[in-house]
Amino acid sequence: MSTCVLRGATVLTMNDARDVVTGPVVVRDGVIAQVGGAVPADLPAIDVSGCVLLPGFVQTHVHLCQTLFRGAADDLALLAWLRQRVWPMEAAHDAASLRVSTRLAVHELLRTGTTAVLTMETVHGTEVVLETLAASGLRATVGKCLMDSDDAAPARLKQAVAPAIDDALALHRAFDGSADGRIRVALAPRFAVSCSRALLEAAADVSASRALLVHTHASEQRDEIAVVRRLAGMGNLAYLADTGLATPRLCAAHCVWVDEEEQALMAERDVKVLHCPGSNLKLGSGLAPIVEMQRRGITVSLGADGAACNNRLDMFDEMRLAATLQAVRLGPGALPARDVVWMATRAGARTLGLGDVIGQVTPGYRADLIAVDVSGPLVAPSTDLYSSLVYACRGTDVRLTMVDGDVLVRNGEHRGVDPQALAASAHVEARRLRTRAGL
Ligand code: GUN
Ligand code: FE
Repeated sequence: MSTCVLRGATVLTMNDARDVVTGPVVVRDGVIAQVGGAVPADLPAIDVSGCVLLPGFVQTHVHLCQTLFRGAADDLALLAWLRQRVWPMEAAHDAASLRVSTRLAVHELLRTGTTAVLTMETVHGTEVVLETLAASGLRATVGKCLMDSDDAAPARLKQAVAPAIDDALALHRAFDGSADGRIRVALAPRFAVSCSRALLEAAADVSASRALLVHTHASEQRDEIAVVRRLAGMGNLAYLADTGLATPRLCAAHCVWVDEEEQALMAERDVKVLHCPGSNLKLGSGLAPIVEMQRRGITVSLGADGAACNNRLDMFDEMRLAATLQAVRLGPGALPARDVVWMATRAGARTLGLGDVIGQVTPGYRADLIAVDVSGPLVAPSTDLYSSLVYACRGTDVRLTMVDGDVLVRNGEHRGVDPQALAASAHVEARRLRTRAGL
């Protein structure tokens, strides 16, 4: 039996009562066994004094395959960004470039405190991403991208409905529940612009019959919803509902341009919103009505989106931006820091359908934990831990990252990873990929 105790931290439990506990946390066989209280002195201990211990962050919208595109698709609006840069590069991926892209993403995510992701990959090669993730220790729900249309998309990324669904189901059979349940497989129809109605309906059917999450993009930019209105003759969310996709399993990234009626529909159907403030700013998408959606009871979680449009995967940036953008929209305090930490942990867990498994430091939950140093001069004085996390800390303040009880980052070092060698191989593979893509 493997047991360890984390000592010396203040524990932000993120339980329903939002209890804050000073005391040890015992982890046994990958599960949180005890929070606070007396602990036998002879248990193997990890000292995390000066830190706040909290559930690892859950990022519900990322694209690991785009990490290798960092800096190669700047300064474009969404549709041009996809058609001119991101799609050609996705089409040029091979096994080696996907492996490095995934490793680079995992390193940044774990190093900066993210322990679980919902990720949309590209059309081909997702088995490489899944294998790399299984070996990495990160918790992930992964969907191969489904797309069959858009005249400007490379032919290699357009797959007819039957083979697309067959591929997704084959990945589900091979990988869902693998790595002790850390790895799960979802469906990922890219967005209504690049999916036919038949493809969206097929995804809705499979999602219903097998209870699979559906990960998509929706209403990110005004150009996009204009295209959808032309294609479908209705608004984006109404269209998704019309194809059968608007269910509690639908995870819709962005939802920047959603009117009252669409918000009401999402609330009624318990559709999950994945807010990506860094991406929304850089692609010039707009400011999402997060507080309004939350007031309606919609679960809103956070993600960095891909490194091609952020260009970081650090949840601390997304937390800070989530709070400050709502301050710009509605006034300071509109989205308080403690609500933002909830979005980064509990809302993410609920979105993944893992609300009883991760997202809080409570006995019986999986030990996905992070320790963040709040004692240093760039954070001090730390009086309100939620404020420190959202406004003052940054990813490099993460000292320890644990997933399923496995210590993957300790003293800021990622176990088994040479960061310089990783960066060097990223440079090599990115150069090769851009040559293949003709960019
Ligand atoms: N819409 C369709 N595909 C994408 C993508 O890869 N990233 C973002 N941000 N929006 C999209
Ligand atoms: Fe995205």
